Amino acid sequence: MFPVVRPRRLRRTAALRELVRETRLHPSEFVYPLFVTHGTGVRREIGSMPGNFHWSPDTLLEEAGAAFEDGVRAVLLFGIPDAKDPQGSEAWDDGGAVQEAVRRLKADGPELTVMTDVCLCEYTDHGHCGLIRDGAVDNDSSLEKIAEAAVSHARAGADVVAPSDMMDGRVGAIRDALDAEGFQEIAILSYAAKYASAFYGPFREAADSAPQFGDRLGYQMDPGNAREALREVSLDLDEGADMVMVKPALPYLDVIRQVRDTFEVPVAAYNVSGEFSMLRAAADRGWIDWERALLETLTSIKRAGADILLTYHAREAARLLAAGR
Ligand code: PBG
Repeated sequence: MFPVVRPRRLRRTAALRELVRETRLHPSEFVYPLFVTHGTGVRREIGSMPGNFHWSPDTLLEEAGAAFEDGVRAVLLFGIPDAKDPQGSEAWDDGGAVQEAVRRLKADGPELTVMTDVCLCEYTDHGHCGLIRDGAVDNDSSLEKIAEAAVSHARAGADVVAPSDMMDGRVGAIRDALDAEGFQEIAILSYAAKYASAFYGPFREAADSAPQFGDRLGYQMDPGNAREALREVSLDLDEGADMVMVKPALPYLDVIRQVRDTFEVPVAAYNVSGEFSMLRAAADRGWIDWERALLETLTSIKRAGADILLTYHAREAARLLAAGR
C-alpha cells in the first residue's frame, strides 16, 4: 500500500513507460481499405472521408506502393462500378474495377496481401447487399452471386476474400465455390459480427451504396447483441472462415474482447468510416490532436483483443510509428 506502492514510479520517464507498455502497434497488422473505380489517372477525393480517394487501377497501384513503403502490408479493395443494376453484375465480372486492380497489384508487388470486400451493395441499383425478391432481400438466391464474386476475385489473384453481406450461409457457399474452382488456398476473412451501424454513413457516400428503400436491419446485427456475435462467429468458423471480423470497432470493443477470449482464430476489427471521419472532423476544427487520437484509437482496438486492424488511418499510423510515436 501507499507509500510503499507508487505506480507513478514506472511512469517517470519515456523509456520506463515504453518498457512496461502492454500493447504496441505495428504496421504489419494494419489493413488499408481502398476504393477502386474504372479509368486511368483517377484520384477523386471522397467528400465524407477527407484524405481518402476513388482510385483507378493505375493510381491505386501507386497508392498501395506508397503504403507498402510506409510499412502497410495489406489492402482491402472496394469496387465502384460504372453502372449498377438489380443483380449487381459487376460484382462477379472478371473485367470489374476490383478484379483489374487485383491483377495489377499482384503483378506489380506479389508480397502485398490483397483482400477484397465481397458484397453486392456497391453494385446493386437498390443498394442492398443481396438480391431482392418480393420486396425483401432474399438470402438463398444471393448466395450464388456472392460466391461467384468471391471466385472472380480469387481468379484475379486475391489472397483473401472478405464477405460483408451478412447473408446466412455465405461463408460455406464461398468456401465450396472457391474449392470447386481450385482455390483451396485462398483464405476467407468473414465479417462475422457486423452490426447495423450508423457509423457506416461516410462509406455509403464513398461507395454510393445507401439502400434505396428500407434499411439493413434485416441482415446486419442489432447493436444490443453480444451473445449473438459469438454465435455468428461460431457459425462462420464451422462454415470455413479462416479469420473473423468485428465491425465497427470502437462501439464494440467488448465484443472484440469476447470473440478474442472465446475463439482461437485471428480476430480483425474494422475501424469504420464514421469512426475515421469523426476524428478527422474534430481535428479539422482544432478540437482534438488527430495524431494522438488516432494512435490511441488503434491502441484501444488492439488492447480489446484485435489482431488485425482495418483502418483508413493505416498510412498515417504507420508513419507516426516509424517516427517513434
Ligand atoms: C458493404 C460494406 C460496408 C462497409 C464495408 N463493407 C457498408 C455497409 O454495410 O453499409 C462499411 C465500411 C465503412 O463504413 O468504413 N456491405
